[in-house]
Amino acid sequence: MHSESPKITIALDGFAACGKSTLARDLCTALNYSFIDTGAMYRAVTYCLLQKEMDLTGDQPWGRILQDLPLAWKIADGQFRIALEGLDIEDKIRSMAVSSRVSEVAAISGVRTFLVRQQQLLGRAGGVVLDGRDIGTVVFPDAELKIFVTADTEVRVQRRFSELQMKGVDIPIEEVRNNLAHRDHIDSTREDSPLQAAPDAVWLDTTRMDRKRQLGIALAAAQSLLEKKGESPSRSTVVP
Ligand code: DC
Repeated sequence: MHSESPKITIALDGFAACGKSTLARDLCTALNYSFIDTGAMYRAVTYCLLQKEMDLTGDQPWGRILQDLPLAWKIADGQFRIALEGLDIEDKIRSMAVSSRVSEVAAISGVRTFLVRQQQLLGRAGGVVLDGRDIGTVVFPDAELKIFVTADTEVRVQRRFSELQMKGVDIPIEEVRNNLAHRDHIDSTREDSPLQAAPDAVWLDTTRMDRKRQLGIALAAAQSLLEKKGESPSRSTVVP
């Protein structure tokens, strides 16, 4: 008789450029889970609001405004996809124009209420890894595994700078450093759900850790929880 393998929800929170999304993708591949990139959702909304030249200050009916944006997010074949009027906007949402305003948009309570609900709907069936700032504290406070990812600031700056260079984006490293510092400040001091580790989160400092080791640690924690749920995880979940 076929029995469904148990699935857990994994929350990865932390500052920008700590390696969360790479770890999230690696975990999804190993566990055959789906990735939900919540930062990409804030970025997509920011991109649309900037396109519309919307006023980002003051009280606005954010729920209705966001509901009417021609944005769609879905998980297809385990991949998280965002489209604007059916078109892929991955490159556009990673631009510095969006990076420099996204924290401002993410600090608006009405925007957060809307996106948190969307994230809860996307992840409600479990078997998901969500990467963000408030996943373990607000979006899925009951997630079975919560990891708070950290890394030294200069390592994060170098990583983001190399990432941008590889994409052909030519900006001075100083601009990357300033952008990260600006976002760290707003993300961790905003009134509504500031970035903080959930009390039951496992801390993972990736400063001197390669990708394989990060995956090994996260996967071992996931496996132990899955075993506690009563069954061994799938064959592919082997700690490297
Ligand atoms: O992970 P990222 O750098 O793509 O996220 C972009 C911004 O969105 C980040 O500066 C903070 C915000 N964010 C948030 O407030 N809550 C989340 N769950 C995810 C991202």
